[in-house]
Amino acid sequence: GSKAKELPDPFALIKDEVSEVTDRLRSMVVAEIPELTSAAGYFFRVGAEGKRTCPTVLLLMASAISTDMSDPIVGLENKPRARHVRVAEITEMIHISSLIHDDVLDNADTRRGMDSLNFTVGKKLAVLAGDFLLFRAFSAAVALDNTEVVSLLATAVNNLVTGELMQLTITPAQRCSMDYYLQKTYYKTAALISNSCKAVAVLSGQTTEVQALAYQYGRHLGIAYQLIDDILDFTGTSASLGKASFSDINQGIVTAPILFAMEEFPQLREIVEQGFDDPSSNVDVVLKYLQKSQGIERTGLLAAEHAKLAAVAIDDLPPSEDPVVLSSRQALKDLTQKFLRRTK
Ligand code: FPP
Ligand code: MG
Ligand code: MG
Repeated sequence: GSKAKELPDPFALIKDEVSEVTDRLRSMVVAEIPELTSAAGYFFRVGAEGKRTCPTVLLLMASAISTDMSDPIVGLENKPRARHVRVAEITEMIHISSLIHDDVLDNADTRRGMDSLNFTVGKKLAVLAGDFLLFRAFSAAVALDNTEVVSLLATAVNNLVTGELMQLTITPAQRCSMDYYLQKTYYKTAALISNSCKAVAVLSGQTTEVQALAYQYGRHLGIAYQLIDDILDFTGTSASLGKASFSDINQGIVTAPILFAMEEFPQLREIVEQGFDDPSSNVDVVLKYLQKSQGIERTGLLAAEHAKLAAVAIDDLPPSEDPVVLSSRQALKDLTQKFLRRTK
């Protein structure tokens, strides 16, 4: 309608802030040793920054629950908006450090369609660069002088490590469990954004109810994102994904599409329980069952459910008349749909 047209474009509103986050990240990772500076800044280089989804979501969330939009950012360390931008930076640093460590653990040669950091500088420097980013993230968090925020971010890192370990220590029975899979997915993919969304609300001095809604938005958005990722691993081409397709199953990682297929074809369970250590045989059999099943469709429906629940969390926020608040809320809802439709 005509009313929607009058709303400011929230992505345009935060575009400069997101660029500012990227610029600041480059300066925040400067270390005593030049090799460490370039390793830690590897994914913050021009052209290597990725989609910058975390900062985008967090800055939109800050605007969506804000009560004062007239607060300029630049150079005002004690202003709420500047503190929200800090959370966006911290979250991006934690995210990148987890990816760097993940690529070491997975022995991955590529990330974001580029050489991985461990491939480029070796495992040792990559591990230390990840450690350094994590330390820088928490130094910045401590400077916000809010223990609850530091604690939320610590929870997020704990969850990332737990999720990674759930995958590493998975038993055959756990590999066949949708509950286990969803818990692991929350920890690995959604816990960082959900806790950071809550941190933004805490810094805004919001009620516990609004804090919980911010958290729920991040949680459902993160889970929806991962479910689509799981689909794309089967349906995407390696060129569009920037990584090999079928990589999950080839690494023996069983995701939602297979778990749904298993409900239709119980005989799959035995094969999945055997694992995929002998690569060729079982992978092909599982893929044949997946093709015959509704696994991909049902995963898409589950992702859509989570996207919907994320949007509901936004709709449940206290009413506002502020056009920037309203358009930021709409943008957060649009993001849930954009995630469902993404192809890379
Ligand atoms: C990607 O998973 C991995 C993660 C999202 C989290 C990894 C977490 C750790 C390594 C724990 C340490 C955490 C910190 C903060 C240093 P994936 O391998 O399934 O997917 P991908 O490689 O295709 O992205
Ligand atoms: Mg990996
Ligand atoms: Mg991994």
